[in-house]
Amino acid sequence: MCGIVGYVGERNSLDVLMGGLRRLEYRGYDSAGVAVVDDDGAMETAKRAGKLQVLADELEANPLHRGGTGIGHTRWATHGGPTDVNAHPHLGDDGRLALIHNGIIENFSELKAELLAEGFTFESETDTEVAAVLLGKEYRATGDLREAFRNTVSRLDGAFTLLAVHRSEPGVVVGARRNSPLVIGLGDGENFLGSDVAAFVEYTKRAVAIGQDQIVTITAGDVVVTDFDGQPVEVEPFDVAWDASAAEKGGWSSFMRKEVAEQPEAVAKTLLGRVVDDAVVIPELASFGDEELRGIRRITIIACGTASYAGMVAKYAIEQWARVPVEIELSHEFRYREPVIDDHTLVVSISQSGETMDTLMAVKYAREQGARTISICNTQGATIPRESDAVVYTHAGPEVAVASTKAFVAQIAALYLFGLHLARVRGTMSAEAIAEQLHELQAVPAKLELVLAESEKVAQLAHWMADTRSVLFLGRHVGYPIALEGALKLKELAYIHAEGFAAGELKHGPIALIEPGQPVFVVVPSPRGSATLHPKVVSNIQEIRARGARVIAIAEAGDAAVLPFADEVLRIPLAAPLFEPLLAVVPLQIFAMELSQAKGLDVDQPRNLAKSVTVE
Ligand code: F6R
Repeated sequence: MCGIVGYVGERNSLDVLMGGLRRLEYRGYDSAGVAVVDDDGAMETAKRAGKLQVLADELEANPLHRGGTGIGHTRWATHGGPTDVNAHPHLGDDGRLALIHNGIIENFSELKAELLAEGFTFESETDTEVAAVLLGKEYRATGDLREAFRNTVSRLDGAFTLLAVHRSEPGVVVGARRNSPLVIGLGDGENFLGSDVAAFVEYTKRAVAIGQDQIVTITAGDVVVTDFDGQPVEVEPFDVAWDASAAEKGGWSSFMRKEVAEQPEAVAKTLLGRVVDDAVVIPELASFGDEELRGIRRITIIACGTASYAGMVAKYAIEQWARVPVEIELSHEFRYREPVIDDHTLVVSISQSGETMDTLMAVKYAREQGARTISICNTQGATIPRESDAVVYTHAGPEVAVASTKAFVAQIAALYLFGLHLARVRGTMSAEAIAEQLHELQAVPAKLELVLAESEKVAQLAHWMADTRSVLFLGRHVGYPIALEGALKLKELAYIHAEGFAAGELKHGPIALIEPGQPVFVVVPSPRGSATLHPKVVSNIQEIRARGARVIAIAEAGDAAVLPFADEVLRIPLAAPLFEPLLAVVPLQIFAMELSQAKGLDVDQPRNLAKSVTVE
């Protein structure tokens, strides 16, 4: 939600900013803007509503001067619509200072009223301009950008990453963060700031994640981090584990298409080094001793959207394997309902970005209540892992398309590893039984390749159904969260009404929606692995078919029972029941992606969305 880049060095900062913004555009694409300062202290800005390309075209027509210091922003609108005027940067100190912002300043109305009363004027409807004007006022009073920052942030409530440049201080970018991400890129004779490492990984893989309530100043040769009181803070650099090319389309027509295809690798890399001699090894969980894991009485999984469906899938596995109750809660509901948490509750958060504000706040709340917390996360240096007692990284690589795909399967793989680890520690499964499940897990990447090989059939189906206005999804047991995920993908990518239901719930209401021609995807459990559930789901198919539904079954290879009743059958390879979701989700992802493309929509950047939801 809003992407931020800052640069100081020898290069033309505009090139660095535009390259960084291109990689961060998934965070928001309502508008984009830059400010560049040259060595003589001349500052120029440009900003435009719309996608980054609109700004790029503008800069091509009207180039800015060359300058080694700059800040850039890509916006997901919160306060004020996506217009040129509301685009960042915003100016303060009579146009001598430029500021960009990610987050929400909750007390901006009071501050604005105060500044208006003092005679300051505003052009935009944004909360950001209030911070820019306040920073300008403080700069006038102090003549020092760092001190002005300290005074300004002490007045702000809410969530913010702020970056600013001032024409009187060329060669300096100052930033601050509270509850929003900011990462430093350490270069040689140049330094970078970004919402995440994608902003600068092309130039350096050495990074530092800035902690909560800290201020950073970068110059070409130096990086200084302090707390909000100006006290120096020790930083711990880390190396980014992936190359810039991992965040490029690399010949694919869209990031989503590439990321769907990368799913076998995402699972394989998440397992890599964590299965040794048929046992699970997760060194990152060293701070959780066996005694503590044996003492857990309940696991609460917190997550949003697709990540929450990964949690729902994992609930079935962890309860079956480790015999511990697992509840799954949407992060934004969690901390507003006085959940029962004690020191025998383990809270597991799942977040691809590691920055989702709802999940971050829920993790903090859980810790305040005495729970121990583990984060399942795909982004190094992100805030949620830093706020958790331990992190198990998924190694899906950067996920750029807004709709989550490869992170989802990697999350399930990581949660399954955790579940089997817990089962060993708690003595609820034999070593042989654990090994058997691990073999199933290790077989998933090759099976995913087989599912992907059938993509063309799904694509054809999507193209035939391009005019569809409503699609329903049914699933049972672990197929239920997959039905929910199929519906979410279709909503967000193709803007089609879609709903997922537990198949068993059909007769309790949703069957009234079935009318002739209504397309219904049904995730069918394996007849071998789920001998009791399979006939029940086949009966559900007959019930909706009798009412005219057009049935598209996702069924195991060789399952002949669905053939007389399904209009289309999409096949997945044989797998044990708990592993079917990792395969069955893929045709649904591809269906939504292809339907979006058939409708001529932007599959990587669907309307109104952003990849990283850093506001509540
Ligand atoms: C849907 C999607 C979202 C995210 C959700 C959580 O395709 O991507 O539903 O899963 O916003 O995001 P993270 O995992 O970054 O916390």
